Amino acid sequence: LSKKVEMNNWEKGNFINYAKMNENLNIVRQRLNRPLTHAEKILYSHLDDPHGQEIERGKSYLKLRPDRVACQDATAQMAILQFMSAGLPSVATPTTVHCDHLIEAQIGGEKDLARAQDINKEVYDFLSTSCAKYNIGFWKPGSGIIHQIILENYAFPGALLIGTDSHTPNAGGLGMVAIGVGGADAVDVMANLPWELKAPKMIGVRLTGKMSGWTAPKDIILKVAGILTVKGGTGAIIEYHGPGTETLSCTGMGTICNMGAEIGATTSIFPFNDRMYDYLKATKRQPIGDFAREYAAELKEDKGAEYDELIEINLSELEPHINGPFTPDLATPISKFKEAVDANKWPEELKVGLIGSCTNSSYEDMSRAASIAVDAMSHGVKAKSMFTVTPGSEQIRATIERDGQLKTFEEFGGMVLANACGPCIGQWDRKDVKKGEANSIISSYNRNFTGRNDANPATHAFVTSPDLVVAMTIAGTLKFNPLTDTLKGKDGKEFKLKEPTGEGLPANGFDPGMDTYQAPPEDGSTVQVAVSPTSDRLQILEPFEPWDGKDATDIPILIKAQGKTTTDHISMAGPWLKYRGHLDNISNNMLIGAINSANGEANKILNVTTGEWDAVPATARDYKKKGIKWVVIGDWNYGEGSSREHAALEPRHLGGLAIITRSFARIHETNLKKQGMLPLTFANPEDYDKIQPDDKVDLLCTQLAVGKPMTLRVHPKNGETFEVELNQTFNEGQIEWFKNGSALNTMAKAAKK
Ligand code: F3S
Repeated sequence: LSKKVEMNNWEKGNFINYAKMNENLNIVRQRLNRPLTHAEKILYSHLDDPHGQEIERGKSYLKLRPDRVACQDATAQMAILQFMSAGLPSVATPTTVHCDHLIEAQIGGEKDLARAQDINKEVYDFLSTSCAKYNIGFWKPGSGIIHQIILENYAFPGALLIGTDSHTPNAGGLGMVAIGVGGADAVDVMANLPWELKAPKMIGVRLTGKMSGWTAPKDIILKVAGILTVKGGTGAIIEYHGPGTETLSCTGMGTICNMGAEIGATTSIFPFNDRMYDYLKATKRQPIGDFAREYAAELKEDKGAEYDELIEINLSELEPHINGPFTPDLATPISKFKEAVDANKWPEELKVGLIGSCTNSSYEDMSRAASIAVDAMSHGVKAKSMFTVTPGSEQIRATIERDGQLKTFEEFGGMVLANACGPCIGQWDRKDVKKGEANSIISSYNRNFTGRNDANPATHAFVTSPDLVVAMTIAGTLKFNPLTDTLKGKDGKEFKLKEPTGEGLPANGFDPGMDTYQAPPEDGSTVQVAVSPTSDRLQILEPFEPWDGKDATDIPILIKAQGKTTTDHISMAGPWLKYRGHLDNISNNMLIGAINSANGEANKILNVTTGEWDAVPATARDYKKKGIKWVVIGDWNYGEGSSREHAALEPRHLGGLAIITRSFARIHETNLKKQGMLPLTFANPEDYDKIQPDDKVDLLCTQLAVGKPMTLRVHPKNGETFEVELNQTFNEGQIEWFKNGSALNTMAKAAKK
């Protein structure tokens, strides 16, 4: 295991460390003395402290050392800006950035890409120069979708990857633990801090039998989603195992892992097998495959490994499924779908069929889809509905161009879009229906929440395999079942579509297509990062001020928020996404969705210095200008929702000192600490009710010590001063974050020493 095998073909000197992983695993094995699941082995072999780490599934917080970080362009902006503010010379963990989210589908691949390059120029320039400076691999717009590029180039069995996108688990198709995280987590790992994850529970899915006919790998996850529902995988890793796993292609396994994100799973994973080896070989990484074979015993579950929950699926009996509309867990087998369309009055006419995306754009997917189109055209029929194809990467696009599938799709009536997310993330300038008009679309994507694809809440979006998308596109109706129904050919004769066929891997190898990768230079120290001072989308982050060492006295409550305050209430998405790289501009959405307990309204609070009612961000800015710190009072589970770091950066930027709540969502609590804020909770949650929005408070910051309560002295407008006890969960290291102004300031200080 001490061989030197590079992790990938793009970087030099980053070797796969199975020896070290094995060593860590042996330490943990001796301690736990029980059979381990596959995902447990990978996680525990990446522990920062395998000797001392407490390990209990569903309870402990694991401190981990991931092998890689991957960022997509929308989330990379703030991640890199934060990393820059730490002043470190380069990333500590191999990292790549992928330009895929900002390309809008309008009229077809080439023109759409050119337009995106124009509109997003400043963002792309920033990402390309900062990547060069900090030793990050940069995949330019047009290169493809992050998860497809990771599978083709960077994923390897046994590895641990974090990525700033929820479908990062796609790489589980190559036997790695790949987890979607927020930008703040990515920054930690880029800056050499260990990464924390609550030890996941393990859900086993045992596959037996073999698929045939119209059933595709997608149907496995469509079925699992139906069983577990959108919440069923929360806090768990879904581990596929059993003889059925040997029958699936590597990219098919990727599809299944990808969509596991829809049931809330931390990630999903398959055991290392020959199909993965074949894929590694086809993508010019045979030495990695050979090395993995040496370590193969640890790249699957131990005999007798125990799962917290076990599901069994016989692939020989699995039917094709269609899930939706509006939620990915509403699973209907094709044999029942017609009835469901009638019973639910779903719009029967199929307006658009869309194949591709990070979920389903492998060579196998494209080949099978093309085989159906060829069959239809041999009977003189083409797509009745609008039809779009999104290749997952430039390599896939170039290969299907060479091998003819692309031409087939065009002849069939399809529009080939850019190698990017496009309609999957709502980057779709859809013109065929009006907003509000009820209609149906079907895609091979993973997510189908209301409005996701085209911002039309009346669009009924269904997800299924690419095979069924093509079949239904030919029929133009949701009530077509290719397994039983016939179509009418040009000659007037009825015909049944043949079952799809397609190669898992191209017989003539992959065609890499255009060169879309920018390697960082040997020495990036002289590179100037391009950020225009007049940009409204990007802004260099200044390090936050360190704590002044004093208690805060007589400061206002910016807002006493009542009820649910999610990260969406704290930092709204939608149109604000544009400003993700500009902290000052995006701060204009701070807490605008939170409900003020004083008047039951959103974004209307009293400025105690002027007596005027004003918007939350404007009031915070006024306090900041006057040198007044402020606190927020919050209700239960404050900051639930996502790991969006902007929800913690914004209050810090606008001069906040503490967020005091009945309770916190844990990730948000940690994010606040990272930015140098004080997340505090009432020792007695009823004290929330004692405080009025126009009270002034003293916060005794000097009391901050591990495990000690703190005091909030409340000065009511008319009444006696009283004290409230607050709890906090800071550890030694996190207290340093507060003192230094942020976790990154602390890193920078340590790096200087
Ligand atoms: Fe992109 Fe859609 Fe995947 S947004 S990363 S193609 S889920």
